[in-house]
Amino acid sequence: MPLRSPAERYLEDFHQRQPGTTSAAFAELAAVKYSSSYAALTAHVPTAQSPLSVLDLACGDGYLLKLLADRQQPGLQLTGVDMSQAELDAARLRLPVNVTLLKERAQALSVATASVDVLLSHMAIMLMDDLEQVLQEVQRVLRSGGTLAVLIGRSFLLGPVGDAFLEAFRPIAKEDRLPNLQMGDPRTRNEDGWRTLLDDHFSDLSFEDIDVHWQPQPEALWTSLKETYDIDRLTVPAKARLKERFLASIAHLQQSDGSVSTGWGLRVISARRR
Ligand SMILES: C[S@@+](CC[C@H](N)C(=O)[O-])C[C@H]1O[C@@H](n2cnc3c(N)ncnc32)[C@H](O)[C@@H]1O
Repeated sequence: MPLRSPAERYLEDFHQRQPGTTSAAFAELAAVKYSSSYAALTAHVPTAQSPLSVLDLACGDGYLLKLLADRQQPGLQLTGVDMSQAELDAARLRLPVNVTLLKERAQALSVATASVDVLLSHMAIMLMDDLEQVLQEVQRVLRSGGTLAVLIGRSFLLGPVGDAFLEAFRPIAKEDRLPNLQMGDPRTRNEDGWRTLLDDHFSDLSFEDIDVHWQPQPEALWTSLKETYDIDRLTVPAKARLKERFLASIAHLQQSDGSVSTGWGLRVISARRR
């Protein structure tokens, strides 16, 4: 196995310490057309086709797979892959025994060639090293005509709360000498990049931007934010300074019940394996 990058080692350490943070943040937040960002992906899994094999790449604590398992759809075979043992342990507790869970890197899957009908991935593919190798594995395991649907982050904290966060975060990251940690492939950040990545082996490429709305109290906002990668990497005193400055800077945005209005900008990329 090639030497793992600092970003991958950090991700492994983070998810070992804090499994389940992604589903805690996103499971309850509704988007306009979907009950959650996870539901935006399960919408790509047909209800009529049987048998049907679905792979969740970087499944975390199994929230997406649980939505599918709850369908009790005859012939639906579910598999989750993740490199984090702590996430997989949480997934095992959540999921029925007939869901297969594999501790593997997305760059080297043991899944059989052309055995998957639908490959999903929620908030993970934009973090991965060597994305070309990951996509080589994705196209290998998907059968011809199979569906790929991945959901990624498009923008961090929507609206004025997001602007206030960046204004507070940037100087503190500088003061704290937070080292730059290059995560993922920059081509995942725009449509042209995805076309370059997928055009050779996929057709029907489509993009769906969805915003999930969030109306937290400032303390709940901070609790969730401190479990994001960049804030997690700050020193304890820098986190305290960030919390103080950020919460002070959004005080004027609080509504009569104390909450602030924000959310996450997300994007679903879907395509068909040629
Ligand atoms: C932000 S979490 C998302 C988890 C889950 N998909 C969800 O949305 O609830 C990212 C996940 O990707 C996994 N991951 C990151 N890089 C990976 C890789 N190269 N191979 C397998 N898993 C990976 C991490 O262990 C973590 O569970």
